Amino acid sequence: MSFPYQIRSFDEYKAAYKKSVDDPEGFWAGIAGHFYWRKRWDKVLDWNFREPKIEWFKGGKLNITENCLDRHLGSFGNRPAIIWEPNDPEEHHRVLTYRELHNKVIQFANVLKNNGIRKGDRVCIYMGMVPELAIAVLACARVGAIHSVIFGGFSAQSIADRIIDANAEFVITCDGAFRGNKEIPLKNVIDDALVQCKFVKRVIVLTRTRTPVSMIKGRDVWWEDEIKKVETMGHPDYPAEEMDAEDPLFILYTSGSTGKPKGVVHTSAGYMVYTNYTFVNVFQYQPGDIHFCTADIGWITGHSYIVYGPLSAGATSLMFEGIPTWPDAGRFWDIVEKHKVNVIYTAPTAIRSLMGFGLEPLKGKDLSSLKVLGTVGEPINEEAWHWYDEHVGKKKCPIVDTWWQTETGGVMISNLAGITPAKPTYATLPMPGVQPVLVDEKGEEIEGNDVSGNLCIRFPWPSIIRTTYGDHERCRTNYFATYENMYFTGDGCHRDEQGMYRITGRVDDVLNVSGHRIGTAEVENAINMHAGVVESAVVGYPHDIKGQGIYAYVIYQGSHGDDNLSRQDITQTVSRIIGPIAKPDKIQFVTGLPKTRSGKIMRRILRKIAEGETEQLGDTSALLDPGVVDEIRNGKL
Ligand code: WT7
Repeated sequence: MSFPYQIRSFDEYKAAYKKSVDDPEGFWAGIAGHFYWRKRWDKVLDWNFREPKIEWFKGGKLNITENCLDRHLGSFGNRPAIIWEPNDPEEHHRVLTYRELHNKVIQFANVLKNNGIRKGDRVCIYMGMVPELAIAVLACARVGAIHSVIFGGFSAQSIADRIIDANAEFVITCDGAFRGNKEIPLKNVIDDALVQCKFVKRVIVLTRTRTPVSMIKGRDVWWEDEIKKVETMGHPDYPAEEMDAEDPLFILYTSGSTGKPKGVVHTSAGYMVYTNYTFVNVFQYQPGDIHFCTADIGWITGHSYIVYGPLSAGATSLMFEGIPTWPDAGRFWDIVEKHKVNVIYTAPTAIRSLMGFGLEPLKGKDLSSLKVLGTVGEPINEEAWHWYDEHVGKKKCPIVDTWWQTETGGVMISNLAGITPAKPTYATLPMPGVQPVLVDEKGEEIEGNDVSGNLCIRFPWPSIIRTTYGDHERCRTNYFATYENMYFTGDGCHRDEQGMYRITGRVDDVLNVSGHRIGTAEVENAINMHAGVVESAVVGYPHDIKGQGIYAYVIYQGSHGDDNLSRQDITQTVSRIIGPIAKPDKIQFVTGLPKTRSGKIMRRILRKIAEGETEQLGDTSALLDPGVVDEIRNGKL
């Protein structure tokens, strides 16, 4: 494959950017022409942000897996598509070439078919980071089923909510997953979830950990048995289902400012074109490069930059099952050395956590294969940026700070490695096709440079969110109703003198904890489930490693009089309801919450107190009972 659309200089970037604004349709059609289509589109773009209705490559027919697999077989079927590094470094790693991956996807597509899965069906995937996860995802895409991958750290309740919302009748899981020294009993968690989802017809279970599981008759089948059945059929082919450009490819749930996570829907063609384009340009992919994105496929980063972006480009994608700190804090560097990784793409929280171990874990590790470093998920602080630059990149590797979201499908604002200028803590410049706008509270555009505001995007790009599954109105109100004719990101942003963008963090009630998005309302709902809790309010506070920590103020009328035990009970409840990632870091018991006369909690005040800023709380005159503030600020954890 060649990438005539790969930008190779700052001037080329400027020219591409200009063209993308002057003639967006011509620009994207030029790129889309390099993919494999069963039938070309009739119209490049049809859109309005009012409904919203956004259609890219309208009338086009394709299957994304033909672009990720089949089209590479001729010229480099023997190139590794996936290198898999297991949790335990003693276990053998696996390599799947494009040809092998293609075969396995076809095999599993036949398994899906034999189990009654058809185009348009929703399939929930809850697995650890094993190659079969990528195979399951691609096999769904091949048969035209809509995958909904759920991160392995979510609880049974969260899974049930998502399965019900998507009305998914099929589940693919593992007996268990290895993560560091832990073994997570995935199938047991699924069983707990499915108590609430009687409509689920089939659960396909892959063996990974040999954790004991209960297989329910008529519902549960083993992955391996199903594969054997396909083999006895004599290795049938599975011609990819012909999909419409705008057929949904997947649903991925993410948190918003309301209690219930929303199912972000991405469609086939636009998502494919945009993830490929950004992969090739941001990381400056060169044929043969080994790309190590450390995210889990349960998040959008894994969807776009472990699976679809790299594979559509014919790259080698490294998938890692474990965690950065096991068996020790040198694990990433061991992987880089062992597999001669060229690009590492990780989260600031991981960098900060590794920084905490000092330089010892880096000693003697050969990182000379590295060419590009990437970060994603949250603002990166200056200290972490320099540590990454000096100690990992040895000051020879450009760092790309990529800002984007589940809803955007691919990278929106980032420098292009070694091509456009980097600036520590700045995502820098928009990708071609992306038109950022800063607006003030009133919705007025803030023009000029050296200004701050709420970040919006003015024009659709190919992988913009199409809808929230089953509730289009929610998509409209969340993203397109705050500011007229603009997509609202929920982020605050600064544009410096040179027009470079720095994302300053969420301006809504969404937290970013270790790069994971969690809604304050979601955590409050979970806390409030606890029998002893009367009411709660959750805010974020700066946390050295996680970026943001979760601070909960709780009105509690429990019985056992032991505050620490009560805290543990509440934490346990949150873990059960959402998952361990949403556990509060701090819980303060209070007798009241600062509310306005209309009953709204003044989070601004709670945020300040959580940040330890107890003096300048600003205007509290709107409060129903200003006395409550003194109690809270003098209270202890
Ligand atoms: C939120 C989206 C996109 C993949 C991972 C997160 C924050 C993301 C950056 C960055 C500053 C960032 C934003 C955004 N964010 N990347 N480079 N600099 N902030 O996806 O879970 O949908 O979260 O993550 O606040 O809105 P997500």
